[in-house]
Amino acid sequence: MNKTTKMLLLVLLAGTLLVATILTFVALGVGHPVPWLLVASLIGIPVLTNWHEKRNFAVWKDEYSVGIESLDEDHRKLLSLINHLQTAVHYQTGELFEKEALNEVVAYTKYHFEREEKMLEKAGYADLDAHKELHKKMIAKIDEFLVRYEKEGHEALVDVALYLKCWLVKHINGTDQEYSALLQEKGVH
Ligand SMILES: [Fe+2]
Ligand SMILES: [Fe+2]
Repeated sequence: MNKTTKMLLLVLLAGTLLVATILTFVALGVGHPVPWLLVASLIGIPVLTNWHEKRNFAVWKDEYSVGIESLDEDHRKLLSLINHLQTAVHYQTGELFEKEALNEVVAYTKYHFEREEKMLEKAGYADLDAHKELHKKMIAKIDEFLVRYEKEGHEALVDVALYLKCWLVKHINGTDQEYSALLQEKGVH
């Protein structure tokens, strides 16, 4: 379901609830709980919508830190670029803006992976090959998404943005944490 259809359905639901609220107030009076329950549902719509939208955005947490400033900077920047893309996708800012936002995430992800791998190599990280493989798979997935975006346009971006957000947060807060102690010990930065 696209954003416009969702908005239309929400407006329809809010309108129906509003009419039902007025009618039940008139029919049952202010002392009856039913119209008040309808008022609560009416207030709940924007609250739930807001919560749902926020779920798509990534928030940096201190626990994501790998203890190396340059890599933390990269990770913060990646999350911020993902949020930029989410904004472009969910607020339908137009093809030019969303394309630019997508290209920025892709370019910075590739740049970051390369930089991280070089640092891991320098530190003699034992699991480097496995880590590189994960990066490689992610790049392949991104390239797949880019092809899908070329074919399907805007609609494909909703999945792309959510996938990128989930994968990156999981990777930063999981696999990347595994090299943290070694890089700090070796003083690689
Ligand atoms: Fe990373
Ligand atoms: Fe990584």
